[in-house]
Amino acid sequence: MADDAKRYGSSAFIAGYSDAKQEQYNQYLKKLHRDFIDSWNDKPQDQAKLGDFEQQKILGTGAFGVVYLTKHLITGKYYAMKMLEKENIVKLKQIEHSYYEKKILCGLNFTFCVYMKYFFKDNVYLYFVLPYIAGGEMFTHLRKLGKFEETSSKFYGAQVILALEYLHACELVYRDLKPENILIERTGYIKITDFGFCKLIRGRTWTLCGTPEYLAPEIILSKGYGMSVDWWSLGVLLFEMSAGHPPFYASDPMRIYEKIVAGKYRCPNHFSLELKDLISRILQTDITRRLGNLKSGALDFKNHKWFREIDWDSLLNSRFPAPFIPKIRSPGDSSYFESYEEEKIKESPICLYEEEFADF
Ligand SMILES: Nc1ncnc2c1ncn2[C@@H]1O[C@H](COP(=O)(O)OP(=O)(O)OP(=O)(O)O)[C@@H](O)[C@H]1O
Ligand SMILES: [Mg+2]
Repeated sequence: MADDAKRYGSSAFIAGYSDAKQEQYNQYLKKLHRDFIDSWNDKPQDQAKLGDFEQQKILGTGAFGVVYLTKHLITGKYYAMKMLEKENIVKLKQIEHSYYEKKILCGLNFTFCVYMKYFFKDNVYLYFVLPYIAGGEMFTHLRKLGKFEETSSKFYGAQVILALEYLHACELVYRDLKPENILIERTGYIKITDFGFCKLIRGRTWTLCGTPEYLAPEIILSKGYGMSVDWWSLGVLLFEMSAGHPPFYASDPMRIYEKIVAGKYRCPNHFSLELKDLISRILQTDITRRLGNLKSGALDFKNHKWFREIDWDSLLNSRFPAPFIPKIRSPGDSSYFESYEEEKIKESPICLYEEEFADF
């Protein structure tokens, strides 16, 4: 690995995206940041209730709740409704994270991220209503194909880079990048979902959270950390998309952590030299050497040779051809999602955990 990087040296970069262009883009990101902070300082009122929706089927489940495909009866439009059970949130000590998730979703405004359309709460649950992304999880497509062609990984990876660059410009660390949380739009472009671990940070943070295979070494070592952890997980994602499996893998999480901290992995032989070079620059355990976390930030990705074919401005405006377009037959088509057993929606005559979620 190190050899490949050495062989390439600084010739791994091209001057495709100029400093001036990046400066202009930074001005745009600054505006998006101001918009985000305005929303953060605002207290939006809930605008809907459960009776406005008709639940259709379960799209996914997680530690804290269930996500339903739902139909908004007034407009006839389809949405994804994430229901978080208050009791689970309290038991798993995630009250603060649930407030963050709501406030962040309410403020997001970027083409490669989902956002909050409506939210509300009742006696048992908190509800987040998001645009329905009908093409399913990247995870499903990746497992079905085994691995992606590098052109596809590049197309998806470039959008993830723009999304992380946006989030970081808004002072947000994402902390849960993985194929399960990346959804494919009907256009073939991606949307990042699941802001359950996302947090506004000024300086460093210490919480251990994320998914074992995608954790950065500084999280495992309980060091204070910042945005660098998202760039690490980008490296893991680029590897997993093109290899079909993550770079640090074992059945026991402790073994995974040992491998991550050692920073040792092997790329499959079919990886191009450019991809090997890029990954080796990202999966640096030393954060002062990690691509994305250096002086030029995300610009270093835009000028890396592996991304040579990407026209970053066209990509941002969805004018770059997508490698795969899902076949969506109708707005409420859920055939790209796995089937789950129906769950019983709980009810309670009294409002549970009213105080804990008073400000929600
Ligand atoms: N906007 C959406 N459109 C379509 N499907 C969605 C959408 N949001 C989420 N899903 C589906 O639901 C699954 C679970 O949602 P999400 O990742 O937000 O919750 P979670 O995994 O329970 O959260 P956590 O990781 O915090 O436990 C996703 O992986 C995806 O399959
Ligand atoms: Mg998730």
